[in-house]
Amino acid sequence: MDFIIEAAVKAVKALYQIDLKPADINLQPTRKEFEGQITIVTFLFTKISRKSPEQTGAEMGEFLKNEVKEISGFNVIKGFLNISLSDAYWINKFYTEILSADFAMVKPNGKKVMVEYSSPNTNKPLHLGHVRNNLLGYSVAEILKADGYQVVKANLVNDRGIHICKSMLAWQKFGNGETPESTGEKGDHLVGKYYVLFDKEYKRQIEELKSFGQTEEEAKKKAPVIKEAQEMLQQWEAGNEEVISLWKTMNLWVYDGFGKTYKALGVDFDKFYYESDTYLLGKDIVDEGLEKGVFFKKEDGSVWIDLTADGLDEKLVLRADGTSVYMTQDLGTAQLKYNDFHMDESIYVVGNEQDYHFKVLFLILQKLGKQWAKGLYHLSYGMVDLPSGKMKSREGTVVDADDLVDEMEQTAKEQTEALGKVTGYSQEEKLQLYHTIGMGALKYFLLKVDPKKRLLFDPNESVDFQGHTGPFIQYTHARIRSVLSRAEPLSPVKEKRISVDPQERDLILTLSQFPETITLAATGHSPAIIANYVYELAKAFNKFYHEKSILQAEDELTKQFRLQLSAASAGVIKKAMKLLGIQVPERM
Ligand code: ARG
Repeated sequence: MDFIIEAAVKAVKALYQIDLKPADINLQPTRKEFEGQITIVTFLFTKISRKSPEQTGAEMGEFLKNEVKEISGFNVIKGFLNISLSDAYWINKFYTEILSADFAMVKPNGKKVMVEYSSPNTNKPLHLGHVRNNLLGYSVAEILKADGYQVVKANLVNDRGIHICKSMLAWQKFGNGETPESTGEKGDHLVGKYYVLFDKEYKRQIEELKSFGQTEEEAKKKAPVIKEAQEMLQQWEAGNEEVISLWKTMNLWVYDGFGKTYKALGVDFDKFYYESDTYLLGKDIVDEGLEKGVFFKKEDGSVWIDLTADGLDEKLVLRADGTSVYMTQDLGTAQLKYNDFHMDESIYVVGNEQDYHFKVLFLILQKLGKQWAKGLYHLSYGMVDLPSGKMKSREGTVVDADDLVDEMEQTAKEQTEALGKVTGYSQEEKLQLYHTIGMGALKYFLLKVDPKKRLLFDPNESVDFQGHTGPFIQYTHARIRSVLSRAEPLSPVKEKRISVDPQERDLILTLSQFPETITLAATGHSPAIIANYVYELAKAFNKFYHEKSILQAEDELTKQFRLQLSAASAGVIKKAMKLLGIQVPERM
């Protein structure tokens, strides 16, 4: 709405002889309860005008109405000047902008961004926390693409370390040669089962040692299984063939399992990094930091950085025995990622329990003088809780991602059947629909909340067809497609309408906001902005649908216009939902 800003600058100059900059003009969408579509905040001008807000608004409104032909009227509520734009303006916007082939099409911005997400450990299956991570990462990547970025989706798999050795050891001890094939169990679940078994045995041994008079601390160190696991890790590092072979086998089981979960969640990756390849990398950077005097060595040989001047503390970057810590690895991986892709920005989608880690990581890279470090960003997100009693796993606390997907499909099935929305569907179509609705419900519910906020996931509420939910929006899309299917093919626009009804105008207004909404969401790394936008759009369509006839419109021109408007609405709903990773059915 640059033309309004320009005119407002001109108005202040003409009325009060003051030069303002465009940035001084504050525009916002007009609140629903008032007449108008765009509002100028005029409180700020009362100092200049030395008049009441009402009088200032009235004077400016009068000036603007005479000055700008698109402005058809105005009203003033305190310090708000609400402006109505003419039907001609909205009609023109609809035919030339929204119906044009390049509406909301990607315009490459020449920038490259990496989005690292998922990044699981290979000792257990994915859980609810990973689900939020995966959905967020995928959606942010899609939004950035839509905003013109070239995007690399990366996954840093933690495939090495003591955790996987624990699973391997327990499998050797208790597994009897069990495999995913022999048991029919999903590979990640099988490996996770042995991780749990390790822990059980470890706890048992600790109790045993304690009963012989050892302290908890001693017992934790001395339990034979933990020693064996540590030994196994050393053998792994030394390249012991047998250990490496078992490690490869069990990781492959896990990848097969993860692959299925990723497929069900509808997420994908362009590049996998494995910590087994990257865990030694950071050591060069440690040397670099020592040379540059950014790091210092303690007597025992361990290497540190002193961040007290930055309000943080001292941080270990290399152990005394020369082995890497998490930070060492991440320093090396950051450099490797940059060498591989030379991206302008690099986003890490990781839970907020690692806020401190990333603060330190980015600060170290800046202190090392890495130019690219200013493009690093931690997309930190909050935990997901479940209402108590719902979908607790056998262990009681973690909710398995695969169970969650099944549960969502089941809930979608019950709700859909209860509403009788699947008559005339084949069995296969039904299953597809339950998956689409179940995942739509889950994804929408998790993504509509600001990533930073902790959230409470309620499966039943998420599937409510009447609520602020994915299925409500999916249903709106299907409803539009159903109307269109009774009218298609749409005839090309031959004649333009000359007036619009309020519901039509609101819909055009909302549609026209799609491109700026994408940019807003991309800049803020926030799928929630898209989610809330598409909800507003669905509501605007439903209002239009309930109050206006489409197929029975008063004349052919109006009918064609409303069909085009409906088709554009379906198109934008579909595109916006796709940015959230959500599919929309053609019918339901
Ligand atoms: N695998 C780690 C975990 O599960 C997350 C890794 C996040 N990414 C990173 N570059 N540090 O806690």
